[in-house]
Amino acid sequence: MWSAVVILSRADGEGPQHASNVQLPMTDLPISLAVPGDVDAIHRLEVACFPSPWRPEFFKNEIGASGRLNLVAKRNGILVAYLFAMWFLDEMHVNKIAVVESERRKGIALRLMEECEEFAVANGINTISLEVRESNEGAQRFYEQQEFEPLYVRPRYYPDGEAAVVMVKELRRA
Ligand SMILES: CC(C)(COP(=O)(O)OP(=O)(O)OC[C@H]1O[C@@H](n2cnc3c(N)ncnc32)[C@H](O)[C@@H]1OP(=O)(O)O)[C@@H](O)C(=O)NCCC(=O)NCCS
Repeated sequence: MWSAVVILSRADGEGPQHASNVQLPMTDLPISLAVPGDVDAIHRLEVACFPSPWRPEFFKNEIGASGRLNLVAKRNGILVAYLFAMWFLDEMHVNKIAVVESERRKGIALRLMEECEEFAVANGINTISLEVRESNEGAQRFYEQQEFEPLYVRPRYYPDGEAAVVMVKELRRA
């Protein structure tokens, strides 16, 4: 079953600019577009997961911005995961993905990434990229499992000085 959602077109008519209404499959763990009312729960998870967390205003701005795909997964109405991504022309960049610790290794992040990829393919996007901390080997395995490839290391990318591994997935077209 699919939720009723719509993709708004870019001003030039070539592609999406604002995912206010995206086709998302409905399952027992619903995934939906993030709304301002989700920001407190998103930020609590952000602080629990990341040493240099985004501030709540940053998430609010992303939710209001164009060229974004911001998703949340909820169990019984409680937020358990989020993904924040942005795109420009034929490239998409995943800025954030996190899952509540007690809900990990259940395929939730994979579902979010699959939604992201389906959205990208449906909208003519060719590559998905992201940065991951050099020390975050679990996340690197997670991305490799989805055929992201490490491209290069970006030194001192994070505020605390840690380097980022830049990973990219080229999307195959049917
Ligand atoms: C990375 C993260 C988002 C993965 O979420 P998740 O819901 O547990 O991932 P999934 O269950 O969808 O994992 C799918 C597959 O990816 C791989 N994988 C996921 N986490 C992994 C880990 N820590 N170590 C090794 N492989 C991992 C596995 O192959 C897994 O399949 P399996 O459980 O059947 O073996 C989660 O660990 C998290 O929120 N971490 C803290 C925030 C973070 O580091 N975000 C990424 C920043 S770049």
